[in-house]
Amino acid sequence: MKLSLAFIACAAVLFVPEIAAGRPKGPPRPRGPIPLKWGVLAFPRFVGLDAYGPLDFLNIAAFSTPNMTLSVIAETLDPVPAHINGPTGPVTFLKPTYTIDENPQLDVLLIPGGPGTRIAYNNTKIIDYVRRTYPKLKYIISICTGAQVLAKAGILDGKRATTNKFSWQEMVASGPTVNWVPCARWVVDGNIWTSSGVAAGIDLSYAFVAEVFGNKTLTDRAANILEIDIHKDPHWDPFCKIWNTTTGGTTRTMSI
Ligand SMILES: *[C@@H]1O[C@H](CO)[C@@H](O)[C@H](O)[C@H]1NC(C)=O
Ligand SMILES: *[C@@H]1O[C@H](CO)[C@@H](O)[C@H](O)[C@H]1NC(C)=O
Ligand SMILES: *[C@@H]1O[C@H](CO)[C@@H](O)[C@H](O)[C@H]1NC(C)=O
Ligand SMILES: *[C@@H]1O[C@H](CO)[C@@H](O)[C@H](O)[C@H]1NC(C)=O
Repeated sequence: MKLSLAFIACAAVLFVPEIAAGRPKGPPRPRGPIPLKWGVLAFPRFVGLDAYGPLDFLNIAAFSTPNMTLSVIAETLDPVPAHINGPTGPVTFLKPTYTIDENPQLDVLLIPGGPGTRIAYNNTKIIDYVRRTYPKLKYIISICTGAQVLAKAGILDGKRATTNKFSWQEMVASGPTVNWVPCARWVVDGNIWTSSGVAAGIDLSYAFVAEVFGNKTLTDRAANILEIDIHKDPHWDPFCKIWNTTTGGTTRTMSI
C-alpha cells in the first residue's frame, strides 16, 4: 500500500514538466491546494462544446474531489442560450447558479467562446465583472474566442495567449495589446490559460487538471471515461496552417 502511494506521488511529480510545456521553460512551479470553486461565465450564443467539454472533464474530476463545486455565472438567472438553433430558436442552454451581481467567490473562472463573445465584448457589465473578478481568482481560463473577453478586460495586456484560428484576424484586431501565439493548442502565461478553437478546450482541460490536481491517474481516467485521445503537446496545431495564422489569418467576418 505504501509502495503504491509512493508510486502515485512519484508519477505525479514526473508528470508535471511534461504538461507544463504550455508555458515558457522555467523551474517547476510549486503546486498549491486544489482549487475547489469553479465557475463558467455564460452569455448568449456561447459555443456549447467550449463550455460542456471542459465541464464534462471537470465533472469527472469532481466525482473524487470532496467539496469541489461547479457554478455557472450570468447576468441573470434565466437559462442562457448556446449557439445551436432549432426551427424555433435555441435548443441548448446553461442554467446559471449565480448572477454577476451576486459575485460568488471562485478559484477558477472559465470563459467559453462563440459568436456571443462579439456581443459580450461590448457588454460593459460582463467585461467589468471579468476585470474585477480576475485579481481574486487563482486561475482564469478562456476557450476559443473567449480570449476576446479577457483581452477586452485588459487581462491579456502584454501576455501570451491564443484563440480560435478560423477567427484569428478578427481576434488579433480586437486585442491589439496581446502577445498572440499563432500556433498553439493552448498557451499558459502565469495563471492565465487560453486555448485554441472549441475542441482544444478539452485538451487544455486535461493539461490544466493534470497541473492543479497533480494526479495522473485521475486525469487519464477522466480522458478514458470520455473516450478521448487527448493532445498533450501544446505545440500540436495543424489548424494554424489551415487558417494561415502565422501570416495574419484569413479575412472573414462572423455575423452575430
Ligand atoms: C468539506 O467541507 C466541509 C464543510 O465545510 C468540511 O467539514 C470538510 O472537512 C470538507 N472536506 C474536505 C475533504 O475538505
Ligand atoms: C463593439 O462596438 C464597437 C462600437 O460600436 C464596434 O465598432 C465594434 O465592432 C464592436 N466590437 C465587436 C467585437 O463587435
Ligand atoms: C488520484 O485519482 C484517483 C482516481 O480518481 C484516486 O483514486 C486517487 O485517490 C487519487 N490520488 C490522490 C493521491 O489523490
Ligand atoms: C492560406 O494561404 C495559402 C497560400 O497563400 C492559400 O493558398 C490558402 O488559400 C490560404 N487559406 C485560407 C483558408 O485562406
